[in-house]
Amino acid sequence: MPDTLTIPRPDDWHVHLRDGDMLRAVAPFTARRFARAIVMPNLAVPVTTTALASVYRARVIAAAGPDFTPLMTAYLTDTSDAADLIAGHRDGVLTAVKLYPANATTNSAAGVTDIARVMPVLAAMAEAGMPLLIHGEVTDADVDVFDREAVFIDRILAPLVARLPALRIVFEHVSTAEAVAFVTEGGPNIAATITPHHLHLSRNALFAGGLRPHHYCLPVLKREHHRRALVAAATSGSPKFFLGTDSAPHPVGDKEAACGCAGVWNAPFALESYAGAFDAAGALDRLEGFASRFGPAFYLLPVNAKMVTLTRATTPVPERIGDLVPFHAGEILAWRAT
Ligand code: NCD
Ligand code: ZN
Repeated sequence: MPDTLTIPRPDDWHVHLRDGDMLRAVAPFTARRFARAIVMPNLAVPVTTTALASVYRARVIAAAGPDFTPLMTAYLTDTSDAADLIAGHRDGVLTAVKLYPANATTNSAAGVTDIARVMPVLAAMAEAGMPLLIHGEVTDADVDVFDREAVFIDRILAPLVARLPALRIVFEHVSTAEAVAFVTEGGPNIAATITPHHLHLSRNALFAGGLRPHHYCLPVLKREHHRRALVAAATSGSPKFFLGTDSAPHPVGDKEAACGCAGVWNAPFALESYAGAFDAAGALDRLEGFASRFGPAFYLLPVNAKMVTLTRATTPVPERIGDLVPFHAGEILAWRAT
């Protein structure tokens, strides 16, 4: 195995940057490593229109600095205006639309209550070539939380793809073997992001020696055989699977609480974390495609010209950064990015 790896600067195809003080605290960590990022729209007041995305983009640029390009998304609601979203895409403000099933995750109360209600918007997006990014979990109380992604495929995603076969879809932060199989078998317009924490951890990590709130995210970590399927997909060389951290910061007090928030804040060491997962799988040579090439290919954007070098070198992760606990807190990682 080589001890250094130089690849084009990666992009993060799924990140939560929040707003206000939190945005200013976390955006520099993403901008330090990633040239571009798909910025999630689930703010306390969701980013539902082109106009809201435009002003949010300005706030992100102010917080992240000039070397970083935020790619904005609009939060789909039952009452989204197709004409506004398509115009935002055409004018370069919106890269994609994000579908949250109502109440599936953080700040998703305004999400879609019934996919039938947004079919006209989705049909217009298919026509315009505008990608739909999907949080793929059903929210029915009678579905076991560990089954919500697999059930979503059967009940919502497969019928949607059958109805709008041309729609460009990213199945976000896939967490199951079923999702890997669905994406693998789909057309070239169906892709998926994979997080570093879903590559490293199975659901055992949630209960290792006690309850571990910093490993709680949605979709929740699954059994080991699902984790292995995700590693196999990420390291397969298939352009359908690419990097999306789902870095999702919550103040430590909101994580270590009686009803803790879902989300892993992995931005500071995400690239080192991915390198460790690929190294453990004996597939470091596949990191470049996953991290730097397949995302731009899906989004029809150029590969970044600047490079980043990963070196095998011990990298301690602090227990805390400000008011946040980073992924791998207190661990020593085997890779360092420069
Ligand atoms: C995300 C958040 O906190 O915004 N949380 C998470 O666990 N991933 C929302 C999401 O992507 O589901
Ligand atoms: Zn997310």
